[in-house]
Amino acid sequence: MSTTPSQSTAEYDMLLDLVQNRRSIRKLKSDPVPADYITKILDVGRSAMSGGNAQPWEFIVVTDAAMKKELLRTYNEVDIDFTYWMEQQRVPELRHPSFQISHEEAVIRARTAKGWSEAPFLIVLLGDGRRQWATVQSAHTYGVHQSHLTDGLANAAMLMHLAGAALGLGSQHVTIQIDAPFKRLLNVPDPLKLVLIMPFGYPEFEPYPGSRRPLDAMVHHEHYEMDKFISNKDIIAYLNELRGKTVPIYRQGYTGTDGLKEGDKS
Ligand SMILES: Cc1cc2nc3c(=O)[nH]c(=O)nc-3n(C[C@H](O)[C@H](O)[C@H](O)COP(=O)(O)O)c2cc1C
Repeated sequence: MSTTPSQSTAEYDMLLDLVQNRRSIRKLKSDPVPADYITKILDVGRSAMSGGNAQPWEFIVVTDAAMKKELLRTYNEVDIDFTYWMEQQRVPELRHPSFQISHEEAVIRARTAKGWSEAPFLIVLLGDGRRQWATVQSAHTYGVHQSHLTDGLANAAMLMHLAGAALGLGSQHVTIQIDAPFKRLLNVPDPLKLVLIMPFGYPEFEPYPGSRRPLDAMVHHEHYEMDKFISNKDIIAYLNELRGKTVPIYRQGYTGTDGLKEGDKS
């Protein structure tokens, strides 16, 4: 970053372009990537902000084919199965789009999906809650606020997604809900949490254009503008609108083709 005042917005323009064109890519090629890309991505990740500069993250780089396969199998059998049944507790039309299917279909998909196990490398993100004591105690008083670990990790993850995109790679954000079996596989000590698996590789498909709410709908001037408040009832319509956009994108990840049906792109 330039330290002298400048009229140029070139750096901002580059950043905006990178941020707006990065997409979650759920189908990656198995083609190898240059070895130094991994370090480049990690180097950006470790530069993230964190409460009290605690840097509560650790990264496990996984390139071994058998381990990647085992992690995906565990993800499908433990994490996805858990999520599947949690989703069944919602009324069908409000379930996450990926789980509006029968259990039989879900099992078949889980058993046949090669998914991210074929990505050339995974970065597994760990959080060490002990390190967050570097920051003020009010940030993690029970029942009040405990975001300093997860927020710090999220910052590191976001930066690594962006670093990957800057290098022409796609990446995915695979949230882990039940971390115990993954920790056993990867020999992670008990005090650490395993929060995320990030597969990286060259994109298999041209991603969808991103979709974000317009700036004007989320920015308030001087005080909260009540005409921008969304009612509880309208939240349902919002979810439906959002899911209309995400269903084809998720389908892109779990089918053998680009997963598009006629009209999906509209
Ligand atoms: C906290 C968080 C959790 C997410 N969990 C998952 C996940 O488990 N699986 C997945 O495929 N994408 C996951 N994503 C990616 C989002 O679905 C994605 O960022 C969003 O739909 C916007 O799409 P884009 O990343 O292509 O712009 C997650 C993203 C965040 C920030």
